[in-house]
Amino acid sequence: MGAQELDLAGLRRVYGRAGSRCFYALVARNARHWGWTEPGQSKWRLWRAQRQVEDVLGRKLALPAGARVLDAGCGSGVVARAMATRFGLLVAGVDVLDVLLAEARRLSARAALADRTAFTGGDYHRLPFGDGEFDGAYSMETLVHSYDPRRALAEFHRVLRPGGRLVLIGPMSLGPLEEMEPGVRTVLEPYLDAHVLPGARIYHARNLPRLLAEAGFEVEEALDATPYYLPTTEALHVYFRLPWELVRRFGDPAKWLNLRTTVEMYAVRNVTGWYVHTAVKPSR
Ligand SMILES: C[S@@+](CC[C@H](N)C(=O)[O-])C[C@H]1O[C@@H](n2cnc3c(N)ncnc32)[C@H](O)[C@@H]1O
Repeated sequence: MGAQELDLAGLRRVYGRAGSRCFYALVARNARHWGWTEPGQSKWRLWRAQRQVEDVLGRKLALPAGARVLDAGCGSGVVARAMATRFGLLVAGVDVLDVLLAEARRLSARAALADRTAFTGGDYHRLPFGDGEFDGAYSMETLVHSYDPRRALAEFHRVLRPGGRLVLIGPMSLGPLEEMEPGVRTVLEPYLDAHVLPGARIYHARNLPRLLAEAGFEVEEALDATPYYLPTTEALHVYFRLPWELVRRFGDPAKWLNLRTTVEMYAVRNVTGWYVHTAVKPSR
C-alpha cells in the first residue's frame, strides 16, 4: 500500500537539490518529463520530443483559448508556459517544492507570461482552490508521486466545473506489483522507493480507468502511448549510461538520482507503460 502522506523530504531529495535542478536545466531546459517521438522521427532529438508531448496534452485538453486550467505538480512551469503560449490557456500551477515554484515564477516573468501562468504552493491532494474553479486540469508525470491517488482524483474532480476536462499523462506499471515475477519486482521496487513513486504501488494501467470512474469521471480515452515514449527511453539510456556508471563507481550515487532515473527507466521498460488518460466531469 502507499505511504498515505506526503514525503516532502523525499521529493526535495529527488527534485529540490541544486544538482538536480542543474541537471534538468541543462538536459531538459527545465522540463521534468519524458518525450513523444512519432514513427519515423529521430529518437535523439529529446527537446523536440518533449515539446511534442506537451502538444499532445494541449490537444487532449481540447479547451478554447482563455479557459482556466490546473497544472497539478507544475515543477518549473515548462508545461504551464507551453499551454499558455501554444493553446492560449490560463494556467494555475501547484507544486509542493518552493524552490521549483520560485523558478517557475522567474521563468514565466522572463517569458512575459506572468499574467497567464500563476504558481501556488500546495499538495494536489488538498488543493487550495474552490469547487468548480477550472475548465480543465492535468498532471504531467506527477500522479505517480501520489501517496493517495483516489484522493488526488477526487480533488481534481472537485475543482473542475461540470463538463471540465482532465488529462493524466505519465508512466505506470502494466498491472499490480503483486502479479509481477519476483525478479522483476527486485528491480522495480527499489526504483519506486528511491524516486518517491508511491502511486505506482496503488494504480496501474488496468485499474486507473476504474479509479477515475469511482472519482466521478467519464473516461473518454485510455491511450497506451508506450511506443511513442520508448525512443526517448532508449536515447536517454545511451546518453547517460556511461556518466551514470562513472558516478556509481567513483562518485556519490545518492547525489545523482535524476541521472539514475534516466538510466533505470530502461531496466523497467518491459513492465511499465506510458499512458494518456482523458476524462470528463459529467455535466449533470
Ligand atoms: C516529474 S516532475 C514533473 C514536473 C512538471 N509537470 C513537468 O512536466 O516538468 C513531478 C513534480 O510533481 C511534484 N509533486 C509531487 N507530488 C506532489 C503533490 N502531492 N502535490 C503537488 N506537487 C507534487 C514534484 O514536486 C515535481 O515538481
